Amino acid sequence: MFAEQGLTAGNVLEIASGTGEHGAYLTEAFSGLHWTYSDIDAAGRASQQAWRDAAEHGRLSGPLVIDASTDNWGEVEGQAWDLIVSVNMIHISPFEATEGLLRGAGRLLKPGGHLFLYGPYARNGEIAPSNAAFSENLKSRDPAWGVRDLDAQIVPLAEAAGLSLKAVIDMPANNLSVIFRRS
Ligand SMILES: C[S@@+](CC[C@H](N)C(=O)[O-])C[C@H]1O[C@@H](n2cnc3c(N)ncnc32)[C@H](O)[C@@H]1O
Repeated sequence: MFAEQGLTAGNVLEIASGTGEHGAYLTEAFSGLHWTYSDIDAAGRASQQAWRDAAEHGRLSGPLVIDASTDNWGEVEGQAWDLIVSVNMIHISPFEATEGLLRGAGRLLKPGGHLFLYGPYARNGEIAPSNAAFSENLKSRDPAWGVRDLDAQIVPLAEAAGLSLKAVIDMPANNLSVIFRRS
């Protein structure tokens, strides 16, 4: 996926890194990636730190404390990023985190830089049965969570932030990889 989309080099800021496995795997696979972890959750950051400590290549940084819903991402403000990545956060956080993520990508990506999102989405009001069931389950855990509609909810906010939709790729289990480009 990252290779096919030409996302194999540059400075990457990950929002909501969770355990940190994705950054560890991708920096091992692609020697041109320099990856900075972040999360609001301390346990997640501890796991990210463990991956950073275990990596021998020195291209993992952070973990930083970044709350995507805010408009101040701390020390990364003023830096220009080639790629911002967020996997499986949008449906498992209040929508304010998505709004902040898209504003932040517009603010911090270099012209021509990319935002990579991964997760389940509805498309123009249509949702796969498995994703609909998952969304109901999420909402029962927290009413502010739930599977979002890529076309109705995400793309308009991305465009308002200066991002254009570049690619949507079907992934296993009705997930999507979604790539936006900063103009
Ligand atoms: C389902 S986990 C996904 C973690 C990881 N990206 C993965 O795919 O394994 C959701 C993550 O979003 C983070 N998160 C939730 N709200 C957030 C926010 N406002 N800003 C940053 N991270 C947030 C949580 O702490 C958690 O690590």
